[in-house]
Amino acid sequence: MGLKIAILGAGNIGGALLGGIVKSHLAEPQDVVATDAREERRRELEEIWKVRVLPTSDNRQAVAGRDVVILAVKPNIVPKVLEEIRDVIKQDQILLSVAAAVPISFIESVLGKRMPVFRAMPNIPVLVEEGATAVAGNQFTTPEQRKIIERIFGALGCVVFVDESQLDAVTALSGSGPAYIYTVIEALIDGGKKMGLSQEVATRLTEQTVLGAAKLVRETKLHPAVLRDEVTTPGGTTIAALHELEKHGLRSMLISAVETATQRSKEIREQIVQDFSKQATAPAASNSHRSGSAKRSTKARAKKRQR
Ligand SMILES: NC(=O)c1ccc[n+]([C@@H]2O[C@H](COP(=O)([O-])OP(=O)(O)OC[C@H]3O[C@@H](n4cnc5c(N)ncnc54)[C@H](OP(=O)(O)O)[C@@H]3O)[C@@H](O)[C@H]2O)c1
Repeated sequence: MGLKIAILGAGNIGGALLGGIVKSHLAEPQDVVATDAREERRRELEEIWKVRVLPTSDNRQAVAGRDVVILAVKPNIVPKVLEEIRDVIKQDQILLSVAAAVPISFIESVLGKRMPVFRAMPNIPVLVEEGATAVAGNQFTTPEQRKIIERIFGALGCVVFVDESQLDAVTALSGSGPAYIYTVIEALIDGGKKMGLSQEVATRLTEQTVLGAAKLVRETKLHPAVLRDEVTTPGGTTIAALHELEKHGLRSMLISAVETATQRSKEIREQIVQDFSKQATAPAASNSHRSGSAKRSTKARAKKRQR
């Protein structure tokens, strides 16, 4: 497609996006530039993907002249990086943020430009190109630009477009979702072990069962209840197990989990916006950014654990 792309923050998500972009030939390696804080990480990415990975002091240089600028730093760093790049980023560039809980309106207000801004919520399986990403765009985004964003995340799994107001629910469902499924996987493995299977056998059978069941839902497009019914023989083993799951309220637990996580996502978003606005009004803004960031980094790690 011949795009010029910058990725600010080449950690887990930024690094996965970098790989997806290069592998899918959305941009040639010489047209991709990333920045990251760690020298070792920069060298590693340069070696794997043959792209330039600059130190964070070169964020401004990385942004200049790119079609798409991807912001993949931790949420508490976002204000600092936006302030850094705001006078080099131009209205005809696309800004794509993956920072959890940072609203588009905040990004627009710091940049102070009428420019296309997308906010995406990917999940961690982007690392293995099986991510689930939801994206919202502001009023200046065009259908052609949506196609570019679709191709970026499409290289790393599936992508859907939603209204920004739905991103809390997305965070609760697919953002936190891998953790729910890991818990289910762990428990099934333990069930197998309780019944005498080895760790290795139980793990292999469980991972493939989860993968296969998900694939059947996706490929047949059948309602999961229909698929479940097909494997539930009257008087058999599956109905006996399903009865146990109903008795312990598995479905109700999962529904409540998504509901509670949505609420928590809203609270975190409101807190982040409040913290950012305090930061903006505090005297000696640049210094208070640094000390504020240090304090908030613990909070951000805690938030990451909650997601
Ligand atoms: N991980 C997920 O499942 C997930 C899901 C959805 C959304 N997100 C969002 O994606 C963003 C990145 O998350 P992540 O898990 O990829 O975090 P991460 O692995 O910590 O990546 C962030 C990277 O940015 C670097 N960095 C720090 N300061 C920078 C600066 N001023 N300029 C450029 N780069 C800088 C960091 O370097 P150092 O580590 O050396 O500081 C780190 O490598 C976050 O905003 C998060 O909310 C993550």
